[in-house]
Amino acid sequence: MQALHGAKKIPTTIKTPEEIDRMRVAGRLAADVLNMISEYVVPGVTTGELDARCHRYITQHQRAIPAPLNYRGFPKSICTSVNHQVCHGIPGDRVLRSGDILNIDVTVIKDGYHGDTSKMFLLGKTKPFCNRLVEVAQQALWVGIRQVRPGLQLGDLGHCIQRYVEKHRFSVVRDYCGHGIGRCFHEDPQVLHYGEPGTGMALQPGMTFTIEPMVNAGKYAVKVLPDQWTVVTKDRKLSAQWEHTILCTETGYEVLTLRDEEQALVESN
Ligand code: MF3
Ligand code: CO
Ligand code: CO
Repeated sequence: MQALHGAKKIPTTIKTPEEIDRMRVAGRLAADVLNMISEYVVPGVTTGELDARCHRYITQHQRAIPAPLNYRGFPKSICTSVNHQVCHGIPGDRVLRSGDILNIDVTVIKDGYHGDTSKMFLLGKTKPFCNRLVEVAQQALWVGIRQVRPGLQLGDLGHCIQRYVEKHRFSVVRDYCGHGIGRCFHEDPQVLHYGEPGTGMALQPGMTFTIEPMVNAGKYAVKVLPDQWTVVTKDRKLSAQWEHTILCTETGYEVLTLRDEEQALVESN
């Protein structure tokens, strides 16, 4: 979501055990959409075809709602961001080619609660540099996730992610951030992926929020295209993003949108 814009209208909520159960269901469904779509992400497919398939799966198979559709006027059911597109790309007629990198961002609403997750796909044969950017972006997310526990200040979380990314000589997007999530798509707090140690809100058990660092190969500056949605890097260099919906537990974290392929990334608390 866009950082530092608008009044903070949706306060941070602490979810009850019943709400957490519903968040688990929504998170599982969002993860399942990414699993379902992966076999169709091949050179020659259009982003519009991927959107249509996800839309059908969410509405007909999952009996859930694709949250992006009509969200503030967004016209499609998922976001697809290719190469130097940072986030919020609108699916359409673009044909994916070997060598492209693609982010698919899925948010579903089930039983009133949201699950929000995204991952990168490498199409055909990609350059080693692309693979490295995508890997650093994934690790940046997990460096953040592993910090999560009651008392963690959000400035510390952002700082850890920023330090990891900059150590690899990439940059962290400033204008978009993670967010609280629950009954609303975007609630407080804003989860910045950069920051100062010892600042910001302290996490409490029962908070649910996303971490979704956008990592640029070049400079962190971005701009929005005339379609009013697609965010791109100003220097037109590549960008990569991964996202999970996280629960802060009494002892650490639970990844509500975890996929089987990521089991090895989870460390015991
Ligand atoms: N899923 C995005 C996020 O992670 C938000 C997409 S809003 C949309 O916050 F309108 F572009 F779909
Ligand atoms: Co999000
Ligand atoms: Co998202």
